[in-house]
Amino acid sequence: MAILVTGGAGYIGSHTCVELLDAGYEVVVLDNLSNSSEKSLERVEALTGKKVTFYKGDILDREILGEIFAKESIDSCIHFAGLKAVGESVSKPWEYYSNNIAGTLTLVDVMRQNGCKNIIFSSSATVYGDPAEIPITENCPKGQCTNPYGWTKSMLEQILMDIQKADKEWNVILLRYFNPIGAHKSGTMGENPNGIPNNLMPYITQVAVGKLKELGVFGNDYDTPDGTGVRDYIHVVDLALGHVKALKKIEEKAGLCIYNLGTGHGYSVLDIVKNFEEANDIKIPYSIKPRRAGDIATCYCDPSKAKEELGWEAQFGIREMCADSWRWQKNNPNGYEES
Ligand code: NAD
Ligand code: UFG
Repeated sequence: MAILVTGGAGYIGSHTCVELLDAGYEVVVLDNLSNSSEKSLERVEALTGKKVTFYKGDILDREILGEIFAKESIDSCIHFAGLKAVGESVSKPWEYYSNNIAGTLTLVDVMRQNGCKNIIFSSSATVYGDPAEIPITENCPKGQCTNPYGWTKSMLEQILMDIQKADKEWNVILLRYFNPIGAHKSGTMGENPNGIPNNLMPYITQVAVGKLKELGVFGNDYDTPDGTGVRDYIHVVDLALGHVKALKKIEEKAGLCIYNLGTGHGYSVLDIVKNFEEANDIKIPYSIKPRRAGDIATCYCDPSKAKEELGWEAQFGIREMCADSWRWQKNNPNGYEES
């Protein structure tokens, strides 16, 4: 049984490919490499000793999608492909709506033409906006997003729900990720951001490796225990394993399901700095900066629905997340590029 993994060369996609191959699935990746390197897939193959069938191409390209469905026997799709930089989405809304929304509509259309109606979609905690309740359950109402990237996730959830409502042959699983960090234990795969990282953990690892001088902590006057933003950080391998469990759910013809994938624990920015320093015995210089536009104070989930219905629960703690992020960065200071 083959699984089409769009965006499979990316950070979460590549880690998911490892877990899929280890679980015995055949993996077909479609990625345009706009934010990734094919080398990640070489590492996947080296780690698993199994082959990934790779198509370099775009989810907006009906021709390549048609070719994939003609040649491979695709049973389900795990759909990671998308642009994801929050700040960039504010300055390039058309590119985000086109790539993420038109891309997904194209993918879904070709899927149904080929009788494949099983999809797992990468959604985000961002759909809750400034959450109405903490911890966030899946019943928490969706909120106002603060940027076009967030809106693409919110709108795509609605689009996929409507498609499933109209045609019950569809099985749609919306996975709302909290904050993925960490890397494969081997230190051979991890997050590989272009340019200066926007997200906290890659910024910290680049300070640790000496590429950046100090971390800017965006605000220390939030209504949180130490004033800095609190998030639910989840190890990328736990997240990847959540997709394998979601596939099992699809195989049970689940219809529409929505799950939070997080640990249920909130850590502040300064908690992360402290854990990183202690886990790796490295000092992270930082200074307090103004709040970042669009940020919220606190965001962590209640992950009990995924535990009850998928039998999935995060296993790795914050120390392992910090140690694994650092191992990857230390061994690969330039990511997948040769140093
Ligand atoms: P990533 O950028 O590493 O991976 C996305 C992959 O999609 C990249 O390899 C990119 O080249 C590919 N891609 C983008 N547009 C494409 C297109 N039109 N056709 C084919 N391939 C295309 O990002 P990631 O962190 O692995 O995120 C994967 C998914 O999870 C994304 O949809 C993202 O929005 C979502 N998500 C990520 C986070 C996070 O913090 N990393 C949080 C919530 C949700
Ligand atoms: N932060 C800093 N300094 C930095 C970077 C981040 O202090 O250099 C702080 C932020 O203000 C926030 C926390 O660290 O309090 C986490 O910030 P990230 O940018 O790592 O993550 P966000 O929670 O802002 O957003 C991420 C993804 C979104 C996704 C969301 C929920 O970027 O795409 O998690 O999954 F929607």
